[in-house]
Amino acid sequence: MKIKSICCLGAGYVGGPTMAMIAAKCPKIKVTVCDMNQQRIDAWNSGDLPVYEPGLDAVVTSARGRNLHFTTDIRASIAAADLIFVCVGTPTKSYGIGAGRAADLRYIESAARLIAEVSTGHKIIVEKSTIPVKTASAIKTIIAANSTSGATFEVLSNPEFLAEGTAIADLENPDRILIGGETTESGNAAVEALVSVYAHWVPRDHIITTNLWSSELSKLVANAFLAQRISSINSISALCEATGADVDEVARAIGMDSRIGPKFLKSSVGFGGSCFQKDILNLVYLCESFGLPKVAEYWHQVVQINDWQKSRFVEKIVRTLFNTVNGKRIAILGFAFKKDTNDTRESPSIQVCRDLLREHAHLAIYDPQVDPETIRRDLADSHIPAALIASNVEIHTDPYAALKDAHALAALTEWDEFRDLDFARIHDLMLKPAFVFDGRAILPAATLKARGFDAFIIGKGA
Ligand code: UDX
Ligand code: UDX
Repeated sequence: MKIKSICCLGAGYVGGPTMAMIAAKCPKIKVTVCDMNQQRIDAWNSGDLPVYEPGLDAVVTSARGRNLHFTTDIRASIAAADLIFVCVGTPTKSYGIGAGRAADLRYIESAARLIAEVSTGHKIIVEKSTIPVKTASAIKTIIAANSTSGATFEVLSNPEFLAEGTAIADLENPDRILIGGETTESGNAAVEALVSVYAHWVPRDHIITTNLWSSELSKLVANAFLAQRISSINSISALCEATGADVDEVARAIGMDSRIGPKFLKSSVGFGGSCFQKDILNLVYLCESFGLPKVAEYWHQVVQINDWQKSRFVEKIVRTLFNTVNGKRIAILGFAFKKDTNDTRESPSIQVCRDLLREHAHLAIYDPQVDPETIRRDLADSHIPAALIASNVEIHTDPYAALKDAHALAALTEWDEFRDLDFARIHDLMLKPAFVFDGRAILPAATLKARGFDAFIIGKGA
């Protein structure tokens, strides 16, 4: 089977960039990206894309209008496609059974029902959203029960491993493409059809095929292992601070052991992003459901250390500022969950800022890409009065304006531009003693010291 027309449900951080890359690399395949959010689709069709991602503009403009289209006409797009990627959100359930851990699959289910309703002929459905193991069989059951036209379906799992901020490089040159399918004749044919899409630009030996359940589970496990490395080094950061060791030196020393490797050992105020916490909680819930409480507990610790790291950072600020931040101006540099993205989902900045607000601090926030509306929406919390947020949060478009008359600077995202700030000027602008809390260990430590700052750097002993 040769794929001529692809449709993608969900024009988010995953669906948008991934489909743009497929369209750019496969000019003969028509790629239509759909979303129920009209504003999002309008943005994808404009010069101001909804996702900030280095290199994305060029990829989108190379194919948009040629074989790449963005639309809210979901039904027509499904009907016209041979292959349908499902990239809708799968947030953590906030209610009922499994609340706080299980994945909320309502968008996946409604996508499956819609596909069944409008499809004719043969369709390949590809799960790209991260989902619990066995979701493919749920999708199949829903479709089989709802399809009236005699259409036939294959369901594949093809998890996306791109990281935000480096999505284009990751898509262009992936470590691997993983495709899971049923080991039947028609399952194998569907897997081969999807392999041939990626084979336009990915070497064959980087495309691996497995059974459905291995593929679904591998995505959760990959994210759990990556996050585990960060929680491991973050737990050691506390010990470094207590002993006078330097966590970057420790990371370098252990990372040169080729069995350990150097990546993902950067200590931080905590990991964020839409995937790590959600996927680990999902894994924990799966383990519990399968009667494996010890395994669940083991992985849950990765999230617990991450929460502890964020609280520890706030406690350090409050303690250092003479046990009170009430009414004190604290400049927050960085709100995105990592550099080179405008995404703030599960960003450690959210918890740090909320905790500081609960202490009645005055926050002056600067981030180069996140829009003020998103910051205000993220900070809203049922435990913090809206009036406190209105009176105690300022959002700036210039870091120096945020730092004027501040008691402290807290760096929470590793944006490159923060390293190059004029620290002499900042020292002049701030109240004295001028405190710096570097939650990413990125600011130039020697310069801070030379300029007379009182600096705390995560994972660095005194
Ligand atoms: C999402 C999931 O969070 C992640 O687990 C999964 O691996 C891929 O999909 P992301 O693309 O970052 O990741 O999410 P988001 O930016 O929220 O995009 C999802 C899009 O789907 C939104 O634009 C939303 O409007 C759209 N959507 C959602 C639909 O079009 N229809 C629906 O029924 C639900
Ligand atoms: C992650 C996975 O890397 C990707 O493969 C998967 O598809 C989705 O989830 P993403 O969340 O976009 O990608 O970004 P990632 O680069 O993994 O960073 C996640 C968080 O960990 C960020 O807050 C980042 O700042 C933090 N981090 C990362 C550290 O604190 N230390 C590190 O050494 C690496």
